[in-house]
Amino acid sequence: MFKQRVLSGMRPTGKLHLGNLVGALQNWKNMQDEYECFFFAADWHALTTEYENPESIRESIREMMVDWLSVGLSPEKSVLFIQSLVKEHAELHLLLSMITPLPWLERVPTYKEQQQELANHDLSTYGFLGYPLLQTADIIMYKANKVPVGIDQVPHVELSREITRRFNFLYAPVFPLPEPMLTEVPKLLGIDGRKMSKSYNNAIYISDSPQEIRQKVGQMFTDPQKIKKNDPGNPDICNVFAFHRVYSSGSMVERVNVECRQGTLGCVQDKKDLAETLVAYLAPIHEKRSFYLQNLKGVNEIVADGCARARKVAAQTMVEVRAAMKLE
Ligand code: TRP
Repeated sequence: MFKQRVLSGMRPTGKLHLGNLVGALQNWKNMQDEYECFFFAADWHALTTEYENPESIRESIREMMVDWLSVGLSPEKSVLFIQSLVKEHAELHLLLSMITPLPWLERVPTYKEQQQELANHDLSTYGFLGYPLLQTADIIMYKANKVPVGIDQVPHVELSREITRRFNFLYAPVFPLPEPMLTEVPKLLGIDGRKMSKSYNNAIYISDSPQEIRQKVGQMFTDPQKIKKNDPGNPDICNVFAFHRVYSSGSMVERVNVECRQGTLGCVQDKKDLAETLVAYLAPIHEKRSFYLQNLKGVNEIVADGCARARKVAAQTMVEVRAAMKLE
């Protein structure tokens, strides 16, 4: 039985937070048995916006890899690698650029959105316009069938499908059409109620110590109408409750739901309970984390091995691509 292939990547932004964990990593982890998985650090993608400060990218990759391993991505099950160490991605990106009409790239919604959002970066570059094309190369290089991504990335996978069709039509049917794989993920907001993000300074990190977790959870926003401890509250609009739903036991969720509405549970106690749930949840992850941190040589070896395995597949794909294009 052939397993279908899954590929996904993450830009290395440093240590990961709980939003990354529920949004992506947990899914990736669960797919490792059913699919043949390739997961990689998209460091060239990071460079499209961070080209003025490239020096932080290496360290971010290391931190991200340690977090990946700690939450249970397994080098025995999956190929874990770094994009820039598989140079074939650059060659495929270049060859695909020959057949990609400019308007296809200009109309990708993230292009203009991100340029506006990241107004402090000059993103009028060739590399930034080509961001989703490089992503296409990443995906089809491994002939991925499924691409687990967040909803914001779906237009990029759609573009990959269009480019794939065009390549297969112009030259030879080398690539399967990749499909985005959207998993319903609960939205965890940051401690200030905005999207959890490193740049907003509102994230709870996988690596946060029990003290940091207690302190951050203590600062979380709850139902603004619930001012005094015995005021009845509305869990449906409470971020602390959203966390309970993800991390607490069913009975705890039920109890909080009832007692908050009744006004018999105050937010201070509620947050204490949540903090302890998170501390317990993260304890085994922290244990693995300190193991890998004490054994960074081992981490490097795991990644080097992943890169070698990825390179083998990529080299084979490029043989087929060059043949299809009559370049060799
Ligand atoms: N653009 C993706 C993101 O920002 C990262 C990425 C790069 C990726 N290449 C990919 C995701 C290939 C899936 C497949 O999240």
